[in-house]
Amino acid sequence: MIKNEKRGGKKRQARFFFRKRKKLETRIGSKTEDIIEAAALIQKGELVAFPTETVYGLGGNALMKEASKKIYAVKGRPSDNPLIVHLASWDFVKEIAYPTAEAKALYDAFCPGPLTMVLKKLPVVPPETTGGRETVAIRFPSHPVARALIEKSGCPIAAPSANLSKHVSPTSASHVFDDLCGRIPLILDGGPCSVGIESTIVDLTGEIPTVLRPGAITKEMIESVLGRARRFSGEVKEALAPGMKYKHYSPRVPCYLSSAENLENALAFLAKKGVRPVVIAREETLEKLSFENRISLGSSPEEAQNRIYAALRSAEAFDAAVIENLTAEGYLAAMDRIKKATGGLEL
Ligand code: TXA
Ligand code: MG
Repeated sequence: MIKNEKRGGKKRQARFFFRKRKKLETRIGSKTEDIIEAAALIQKGELVAFPTETVYGLGGNALMKEASKKIYAVKGRPSDNPLIVHLASWDFVKEIAYPTAEAKALYDAFCPGPLTMVLKKLPVVPPETTGGRETVAIRFPSHPVARALIEKSGCPIAAPSANLSKHVSPTSASHVFDDLCGRIPLILDGGPCSVGIESTIVDLTGEIPTVLRPGAITKEMIESVLGRARRFSGEVKEALAPGMKYKHYSPRVPCYLSSAENLENALAFLAKKGVRPVVIAREETLEKLSFENRISLGSSPEEAQNRIYAALRSAEAFDAAVIENLTAEGYLAAMDRIKKATGGLEL
């Protein structure tokens, strides 16, 4: 009885909050005028979604604490999970962080591109942007629309992926619309993202450069420039990679991992239980399967990275997804996202 009353109270509160939140009209644009309007919104402390080569970002002025607070509110993201700050070029690093020789070497080798570097921050970056940390994650996107937006805004842009917290990252403007319609005024459409998974994050504040999140720039590529690098492994400690402790990239249907050899059995098992699954696998694996509901991850690690998030969103039209366990070394970054989507469930 008491429990029910409590639950009812919570429901009422949630409804009240929802009524209070003003619904915005969300427009999608891709013209130069739209980028100019987006820059004006960023300058005013408003939020705009924009394309990058990795995934779409939800951007706000990184130096305005109110803008960062809005980002957390719009996404429903825990405020101790820091944001990545997007810059136009190396010259701007010294305005927000302490540049290092290693950071410059990685910048020369891979930027603009899908690499984020963690450096010690300057006081100008508010704690609201960095989740209270003394470090800041910086990135130089290569997508021309992202670059134009940063340049026209004239400020560093804090941007997490433009999805609702815990949902799959968006790789097209329509993915962003599906998650954030009514919550932001403008989405810049720059077409599908060419990389398709989030940037590699490398922490340069410790003894050894440490890859906190795998991505298209591999640990080996970083090692080839700096002579040393390691992959973060072991316990997720608060101090290291705050974002890693949260469940990410989850479609709204159960996802299961299965080896290529076991896929047929796994699909039959689900079908027998009255579940209508879809299989997500490499082209060469699909060729050997007779199952009708299928989404291809292509024929290379790059294609798998490029397709995985759209595949996970498409899987939501089914009851469940069975995803191929990709064991070859090159699939490490794609598998990182697949493991987070399945949450360790295996068939
Ligand atoms: O490709 C990308 O990086 C995309 C696009 C929009 O640029 N952005 C993105 O942001 O993936 P988000 O917020 O979804 O992921 C940011 C990750 C989180 O896991 C967070 O914990 C980590 O970066 N991060 C941010 N600042 C950090 C810091 N100072 N130290 C350690 N990790 C940090
Ligand atoms: Mg994200």
